[in-house]
Amino acid sequence: MPINYYSYSHESTRLIMRPLVLGDVKPWEDFMKSNDATAFFPPKLKPPHFTAKDWIERQMQRYENDQLGLLALTEKKSGHFIGMSGLLKQEVNGKPEIEVGYHLLPTYWKNGYAREAALYFLKFGFITMLPSSIISLIHIENASSQRVAQANGLTTDGKIIQNHGPSYIYRISNTDWTKN
Ligand SMILES: CC(C)(COP(=O)(O)OP(=O)(O)OC[C@H]1O[C@@H](n2cnc3c(N)ncnc32)[C@H](O)[C@@H]1OP(=O)(O)O)[C@@H](O)C(=O)NCCC(=O)NCCS
Repeated sequence: MPINYYSYSHESTRLIMRPLVLGDVKPWEDFMKSNDATAFFPPKLKPPHFTAKDWIERQMQRYENDQLGLLALTEKKSGHFIGMSGLLKQEVNGKPEIEVGYHLLPTYWKNGYAREAALYFLKFGFITMLPSSIISLIHIENASSQRVAQANGLTTDGKIIQNHGPSYIYRISNTDWTKN
């Protein structure tokens, strides 16, 4: 039987990943109200146009429509909700792609949690979905997100204009992933 992304018991060294629930809306508000955290989001995905609840319901729709979506990250040592990461269906230049995404509550930045979660989902994605590559779309000025991608071996493969501005396509091929 194929592994089901939604119901699988995802975990890495310091994190547990599980589907989002409406109880995550309250802690996620700390992210949505931080100007630093949403600096590279388009206005239509920020308050007051888009609330923490809208964001979480959007992922729930992705679980249903795509069998993928951002999952909640919880810290093993405290049990706290610390952000989101996971695999997403994307279309870039007319082609289907699998993206790894990550967003942390600002309190948890600079602990290596984003790279740990992204590395976990790269591994899960390559093993279970066998894509030829996995990408991350990152605003050209989002330096900390680019460092996460680079730390996991992704490199730039062109630029696109997204609705929040110019973004790099960071990519790692299955071949390069398997080599490392
Ligand atoms: C992007 C984002 C997740 C990156 O968070 P981050 O804390 O910088 O990334 P990590 O959790 O991987 O932590 C890595 C940093 O912690 C440091 N660190 C500390 N302890 C560490 C450890 N045990 N292991 C690894 N790194 C550690 C690293 O040196 C690194 O610092 P550096 O970037 O200055 O080199 C965060 O800035 C964020 O949520 N931004 C808003 C949303 C967003 O932009 N998402 C991405 C959209 S493309």
